[in-house]
Amino acid sequence: MPYNLLKGKKGIIFGALDDKSIAWRTALRCHEEGAQLVLSNAPVALRMGEINKLAEAVQAPVIGADVTSMEDLKKLFEESMTHFGGGVDFILHSIGMSLNVRKGKHYTELDYAWNQKTLDISAMSLHRVLRTAWELDAINEWGSVVALTYIAAQRVFPDYNEMADAKSLLEAVARNFGYHYAKKKKVRVNTVSQSPTRTTAGSGVKGFDGFISYAEKMSPLGNATGDECAAYLATLFSDLTRMVTMQNLFHDGGFSFTGVTQEVVEQMEK
Ligand SMILES: NC(=O)c1ccc[n+]([C@@H]2O[C@H](COP(=O)([O-])OP(=O)(O)OC[C@H]3O[C@@H](n4cnc5c(N)ncnc54)[C@H](O)[C@@H]3O)[C@@H](O)[C@H]2O)c1
Repeated sequence: MPYNLLKGKKGIIFGALDDKSIAWRTALRCHEEGAQLVLSNAPVALRMGEINKLAEAVQAPVIGADVTSMEDLKKLFEESMTHFGGGVDFILHSIGMSLNVRKGKHYTELDYAWNQKTLDISAMSLHRVLRTAWELDAINEWGSVVALTYIAAQRVFPDYNEMADAKSLLEAVARNFGYHYAKKKKVRVNTVSQSPTRTTAGSGVKGFDGFISYAEKMSPLGNATGDECAAYLATLFSDLTRMVTMQNLFHDGGFSFTGVTQEVVEQMEK
């Protein structure tokens, strides 16, 4: 049920690849809540063409940007500000890619050139986005920026590989840039740590089926879905959460603070 939480707000959503993407679910929800949107993804992802269906559903322009290119990001923010006739109120960073995972390299044998690229795409891109917005003064006062992360930043999930390091760095950037943006313009920056979710990026993790059912059994509320994540993100973009910043917020059905559950004990006793 929509609550008009984002009436009059303008936002940029990065990372909608297909209808399973968390960014896709979030764009639909933000539109339902009354927001005006610009959609962005890497030029190579745009060539798939799927995003045009979303663009039509949420009546938003699509502006390509590779998040490792400062030139692309500058162009994206300038065009978005022209489209909106002013600054933006919220940004979703829903971007992740691991070259070593994709190419089957074990964590103990990382290719460092690929690792650099992974950290740039998956973590430092948040810094690049925030810096571009900062330099163009593109985010309105009390704006809200959220990036998606995973609990492998705090605890070891061996098959998450180098993405665990990337997520730790992403969370640190949110905290550190969050300080400066709060001081400068009351802009808040947070990360949301989501349950495993069946998406293209999620399914790239080795043993994902086992991973997702383990998390389901270890979460008192069960795994949070992409739509549930979208609803939570809408609250973080709204004026109801103005004093929340520099946080890593778990959206995981209680997984992060659960030691063990009855289901897991029963499984072990078999
Ligand atoms: N799916 C999960 O289990 C899960 C759990 C926790 C957090 N997350 C995080 O959620 C975010 C979104 O992932 P998702 O699961 O919706 O998968 P997804 O594959 O649908 O989205 C990942 C997006 O990153 C984009 N991207 C990759 N390289 C890019 C670049 N150079 N420039 C711009 N965009 C680029 C892709 O095109 C894609 O749209 C990621 O940060 C992911 O790590 C996912």
